[in-house]
Amino acid sequence: MHQREATSDLASSGGARGGQMALDAAQASPTPAIAATARILARLKDQPGPLLPVLHAVQHELGCIPAPAVQTIAEALNLSRAEVHGVITFYPHFRSEPAARHTLEVCRAEACQAMGGEHLAAHARTALGCDFHASSKNGDFTLEPVYCLGLCAQSPAVMIDGRPHARVTPEKLDRLLARTVEAQS
Ligand code: FES
Repeated sequence: MHQREATSDLASSGGARGGQMALDAAQASPTPAIAATARILARLKDQPGPLLPVLHAVQHELGCIPAPAVQTIAEALNLSRAEVHGVITFYPHFRSEPAARHTLEVCRAEACQAMGGEHLAAHARTALGCDFHASSKNGDFTLEPVYCLGLCAQSPAVMIDGRPHARVTPEKLDRLLARTVEAQS
């Protein structure tokens, strides 16, 4: 069985079995992340295959899915923490840590790769000191891959905080990053 189907079935039967006591306790938690997660669970846990909708909603509200939320979700859906963690790590969209102040997305699709995209990606990793799906230590940038920005004729391309940039060289990327940081201060 495909992993996504297996996870949905697990979460569905888990939700049907309950975990209501754990959920009641979590809703009364003084920890905001746990209480918010419990409210989301109360709303979504009885729908078929609740795990993915719950994870999306938690990340939307909290900006990430922190460890205490994983515990709360696992208990409410009668899953193990490892099962919930496995789904979070399977999908690059989900993050366990909050995103940085800015997001740098580097195009990893074919046209950009053919025009130096790999070299640009390596430079981005070095410049930020982190890999894709992670953030620089100073909290300035989260580095994410993106697959085509519609700028193939002007590749390689990146996007910073939702704004696309074409024909990006390592030197140009350094300037764009510096300008983004300067603009926030
Ligand atoms: S492949 Fe990079 S913008 Fe299209």
